[in-house]
Amino acid sequence: MPLKTIDNLDVKGKIVLVRCDFNVPISEDGEISDTSRIERHAPTIITLVNKGAKVALLSHFGRPGGKFDEKFSLGFISESITEVFKASEVVVISDCIGDVAKQVLNDLPNGGIALLENVRFYEGEEKNDTDFSKSLADIADIYINDSFSVCHREHSSVHGITKFLPSYAGLALQLEIEMLEKVLEKPEPPMMAIVGGSKVSTKLKLLGNLVEKMKFLAIGGGMANTFLAAQGKNIGSSFYEKNMIKEAKTIMKKAETTDCDIILPIDAVVADKLEFGVQSFSIDLENIEKSNMILDVGEKTVELISNAIINSKTLLWNGPLGVFEIQPFDESTSSCALTAAMMTRAGGLISVAGGGDTVSALNHAGASGGFSYISVAGGAFLEWIEGKVLPGIKVLND
Ligand code: 3PG
Repeated sequence: MPLKTIDNLDVKGKIVLVRCDFNVPISEDGEISDTSRIERHAPTIITLVNKGAKVALLSHFGRPGGKFDEKFSLGFISESITEVFKASEVVVISDCIGDVAKQVLNDLPNGGIALLENVRFYEGEEKNDTDFSKSLADIADIYINDSFSVCHREHSSVHGITKFLPSYAGLALQLEIEMLEKVLEKPEPPMMAIVGGSKVSTKLKLLGNLVEKMKFLAIGGGMANTFLAAQGKNIGSSFYEKNMIKEAKTIMKKAETTDCDIILPIDAVVADKLEFGVQSFSIDLENIEKSNMILDVGEKTVELISNAIINSKTLLWNGPLGVFEIQPFDESTSSCALTAAMMTRAGGLISVAGGGDTVSALNHAGASGGFSYISVAGGAFLEWIEGKVLPGIKVLND
């Protein structure tokens, strides 16, 4: 069934609650390090403003655990929102439910924008609590979900609220689904996946699926350490998940039967601690010392990954290969990203990347423009690739 969209929706003078994803990456000095997630909402918000809606922006930020916590308060984002949405003013509301919030929204002029407080300050949100869902619905006339990246969460602001308000998919959500369907509908082999990030545990199911479908699976980031440890390799004092060794072995064994080449680091860039300006050096794995931490994959590994990219027709990428936020541990991610972008531009590759960190890393590399499609979603992107039905999308079809 097609999604209910906002195309012919009359919103003039109505309070429209838009579920955004302002869960943006924050740099060490507390600044927003990548505004892609905010930018994706611009088409929906600007359309609603032009149609004379009273726009209420609703989002989570981080995982405050169902109670107020100043450091997760969303007010700090209003300046960026004003800039990106070209708004003259964004009214910041210190709650996301209740009479005061409702009154401020009522008082907005047509075309006005207000930003509600972090929805995860309420316990009911993650529990998809019916009363809380209703309280959210009570402050608005229409609900729009504009965030593919939260659709895997069966939470009140994504799921429960749709029982109480006429509900639609925003333009960003629509575009994300259309693009993912288009580029991944009939993926051309050979297929490759690059999976990075820190934990095997969060991507276990994905890895298990990928070895069934991919010709090449490059594993980087902290999670590669767990695989290396499972092979009995030396990883110095690098982070790894001891309790995932068995799973890593199972995945490698499965890859042998499915003819999937798992590419693991053969060399690394290491340092004795993780901080700006720390002395680092490239080293083959067998020479790693006890005090060394692997913070990026090395040049020889980059060559292996780049060759695999060149020999693939479809590439899925989730997670950076190293700690790209701190130079020089960004080099492998940037280099492989530029190779993928170059191959895509030359018409030899369909490349799709997803994940908050991945987007920042590809932007940092200057490679995003070269990819076939970049999803700002993290977990939702992974679950989509796994073939799961996302609850937040299902309710907009029902
Ligand atoms: C994300 O960062 O993928 C989304 O904002 C969802 O955040 P969550 O994993 O905390 O639900």
